[in-house]
Amino acid sequence: MDRKEFLAMFGVSAAALALTTCMNGCSKAQVTNTAPTVNFTLDLTKPTNSALQTNGGFLYVEGVIVARTNAGAFIAVSQTCTHQGANVVFQASASEFICPAHGSTFAPNGAVGMGPATVSLKSYYTSVSGNFLHVSG
Ligand code: FES
Repeated sequence: MDRKEFLAMFGVSAAALALTTCMNGCSKAQVTNTAPTVNFTLDLTKPTNSALQTNGGFLYVEGVIVARTNAGAFIAVSQTCTHQGANVVFQASASEFICPAHGSTFAPNGAVGMGPATVSLKSYYTSVSGNFLHVSG
């Protein structure tokens, strides 16, 4: 193989690699079907769950973001943004989940408020009994 043949072959391979990388990394595809099925109980008195002792606090458990609204209600949705998979956070002042990656917003029930995400977050059932919060769905 002479130099010209090598460069021709390498050039094709590099172009194919760059195209493949961009197709994967530049994808605008929505992430779907990543929401877990869960069934867990949190002891709200434990230090590891202390974020939920204050209105506006939130934490992540088993792929779910569990939040306490400013009104003191507990809500839970899948933590993975349906746009490209970043973890959403709870913004108590607006009572919504937001994605820091590209700005999507989701209502407390997981419905899309603003894109680029177009698919809702999975919403979970929550119930409180004494100091225990049960989350399932
Ligand atoms: S990953 Fe893009 S808006 Fe969430």
